[in-house]
Amino acid sequence: MSNTGTIIVGLALLLLCSSGLLPRLAAAPGPPIQAVNLGGWLVTEGWIMPSLFDGIPNKDLLDGTKLQFKSVVQNTYLAANQGGGAAIVADRTQASSWETFRLWRINATSFNFRVFGGQFWSVNSTGAVVATATSPGPSETFQMVRWDANTTRVRIRASNGLFLQVKTMQSLTADRGVATDWSDSDPSVFVANNVDILRGEYQICNGYGITNATKVLTNHWSTYINESDFSFMSSSGLNAVRIPVGWWIASDPNPPLPFVGGSLKALDNAFVWAQYANRSSLLAIELLNEPLYPGVTLPSLKKYYQDGYNAVRRRTSTAYVIMSNRIATPDQTELLQFASNFSGSVLDVHYYNLFNSKFDNFNVQENIDYVQNNRSSDLAAITTKGFPLTFVGEWVAEWNVRGASKADYQKFAQVQEDVYGRATFGWAYWTLKNVNKAWSMEWMIKNGYISLTS
Ligand SMILES: *[C@@H]1O[C@H](CO)[C@@H](O)[C@H](O)[C@H]1NC(C)=O
Ligand SMILES: *[C@@H]1O[C@H](CO)[C@@H](O)[C@H](O)[C@H]1NC(C)=O
Ligand SMILES: *[C@@H]1O[C@H](CO)[C@@H](O)[C@H](O)[C@H]1NC(C)=O
Ligand SMILES: *[C@@H]1O[C@H](CO)[C@@H](O)[C@H](O)[C@H]1NC(C)=O
Ligand SMILES: *[C@@H]1O[C@H](CO)[C@@H](O)[C@H](O)[C@H]1NC(C)=O
Ligand SMILES: *[C@@H]1O[C@H](CO)[C@@H](O)[C@H](O)[C@H]1NC(C)=O
Ligand SMILES: *[C@@H]1O[C@H](CO)[C@@H](O)[C@H](O)[C@H]1NC(C)=O
Ligand SMILES: *[C@@H]1O[C@H](CO)[C@@H](O)[C@H](O)[C@H]1NC(C)=O
Repeated sequence: MSNTGTIIVGLALLLLCSSGLLPRLAAAPGPPIQAVNLGGWLVTEGWIMPSLFDGIPNKDLLDGTKLQFKSVVQNTYLAANQGGGAAIVADRTQASSWETFRLWRINATSFNFRVFGGQFWSVNSTGAVVATATSPGPSETFQMVRWDANTTRVRIRASNGLFLQVKTMQSLTADRGVATDWSDSDPSVFVANNVDILRGEYQICNGYGITNATKVLTNHWSTYINESDFSFMSSSGLNAVRIPVGWWIASDPNPPLPFVGGSLKALDNAFVWAQYANRSSLLAIELLNEPLYPGVTLPSLKKYYQDGYNAVRRRTSTAYVIMSNRIATPDQTELLQFASNFSGSVLDVHYYNLFNSKFDNFNVQENIDYVQNNRSSDLAAITTKGFPLTFVGEWVAEWNVRGASKADYQKFAQVQEDVYGRATFGWAYWTLKNVNKAWSMEWMIKNGYISLTS
């Protein structure tokens, strides 16, 4: 259950296969490629297609959700004293990390609650709720009962069958048996404030349960991307796709729970759709997506890349091996020398004029200048003769500019195509389909915001 959204994305393995379907493309493309990511296909990301989650009961209480509980009687928040290892109390007027609890979802109504320090809520022998358990079992399992008329009002039932209540602000006890009228005078009623929700592959599988998740995902894999999409990409001037896959695809069709099997078969289809010529459509394998600085250390990353490179080379001498730079690293060139030792290596960088406060107030021209000047020099700093080749594996024509015109978007897309076109391996837009228009390359192409020169 610790494999929540971040880890799923973090451990994603990326494959690239060429997407040329038309006869005029006689062979798999060599670099530099013009590609698009098939995000949200074999690895779920809720923001790309939220409707996939619609059939999950209590879909706002997915695994990993962070909740805060306010006692309606006291008007104070529950808190893990000392962040964990002690009692749960109810004396806080404001909520931050010690007052925030992470859900481990067992099913739609049963959960474990994890505190800031990593421990779990449990009920001790005198009926107090304490955060001392280091792993969850039956006495760490609680049922959440919501008020139909306003589902933010909840009661929490412990494994002894009784509801938790706040009799004094210094304790939370599992000893209320009577029914509720959900009013502000019931000490077992809390307002649950949902402060963060994760919506990834783990959450969709765990949320639906294996039977329904298999149905939902099998349908998604065969309908979200099909052969017509490959025709569209090819005729639009794209010649490769970057496909995120989860680490569990390695044990398909029997991945560890809660993941469901079948994504490997869907991936095989992509190779069939991409193939046009008598050669493998597998262009490259990316060993890891977006390792995050400073949590991922440089020595551990190099060891992983070395082992991964050797593993790929045992199977193919021709596929490029892509190594992702650490996200947020202060030294973009930190892998350059290391990667230069591997024949067929590629260094992947992701360029977004987002996710950093310095872009918050950029206007149209400042965004364009930043790409033209700063990104150009960033890319030049890691582009050398020989290996590694350079790859802008993710970019998007989206920004923090409000009220930008179509012409503004066109300029922003074009300058990125021009600058990232200097990457020696090529670039890939994030992503092909997305409910958010600018993030959907399909929408951007069909509506004339992006045009590619091939
Ligand atoms: C249960 O926890 C409460 C609150 O920390 C504490 O006062 C009580 O002594 C504990 N009971 C036992 C048997 O440890
Ligand atoms: C949910 O999980 C709890 C705890 O394991 C179990 O007692 C309950 O029967 C489950 N509910 C459903 C609907 O499966
Ligand atoms: C539900 O309860 C919350 C918390 O008391 C309140 O803020 C919200 O307005 C209520 N929603 C409705 C629809 O009454
Ligand atoms: C699966 O979905 C069906 C129909 O939507 C629903 O009735 C059923 O309760 C779901 N099963 C589980 C285990 O959630
Ligand atoms: C692909 O899916 C679209 C609908 O999303 C459909 O219109 C099209 O016919 C499908 N193409 C193939 C080859 O199945
Ligand atoms: C593909 O190429 C290989 C090696 O050149 C050859 O043996 C094989 O017959 C070719 N297959 C097809 C379908 O052309
Ligand atoms: C590159 O390989 C050489 C020879 O194996 C080795 O001495 C050197 O330390 C390596 N350089 C880096 C940066 O890993
Ligand atoms: C862009 O590069 C210029 C020239 O090196 C530098 O002065 C400027 O601070 C950079 N802009 C940002 C926002 O980092």
